Amino acid sequence: MSNSVLSTEHLDKTKLAELDKYIAGLENKQEAIIHILHRGQEIFGYLPKELQLYIARKADLPAAKVNGIVSFYSFFSQEPSGQYQISICLGTACFVKGADAIIKEFRSQLDMADKRVSDDGRFSIRDVRCVGACGLAPVVVINEKIYGHVGTDDVAGIIEQYRGAEG
Ligand code: FES
Repeated sequence: MSNSVLSTEHLDKTKLAELDKYIAGLENKQEAIIHILHRGQEIFGYLPKELQLYIARKADLPAAKVNGIVSFYSFFSQEPSGQYQISICLGTACFVKGADAIIKEFRSQLDMADKRVSDDGRFSIRDVRCVGACGLAPVVVINEKIYGHVGTDDVAGIIEQYRGAEG
């Protein structure tokens, strides 16, 4: 990640103030970098490169290191998500129980062949590694809610719960 072409001045000031407040309360900002990134993602919804740079400066870490952390962990997103983030576990236990068919079914039902976010911005799909609920494989997480033992037949019903939901 190059620092020179990035500017943090377009980031939302109110959200930055909230993040600053969180960071100010931390004793060791470098050790807490994962927590800071989590908080940043909670506040902004995702971690654009500009925000990574801002956080890197605040924590006095190289931007490339922060970007490496964000890229490594699948729970961090560098792109905006839909209102409902559908995370499909492709860890080993879920994969052997057919998670790849589940992801295809979500993509087909939502008409999102290669798209990360649906045209109306309501849904985004991503695959994640083991979410620690292997006993429930295959597992789908939508925002904070976990669905276990999901079969392709369940996908339409799950989507319906969110299609009908108010924004
Ligand atoms: S592999 Fe999917 S929850 Fe562990």
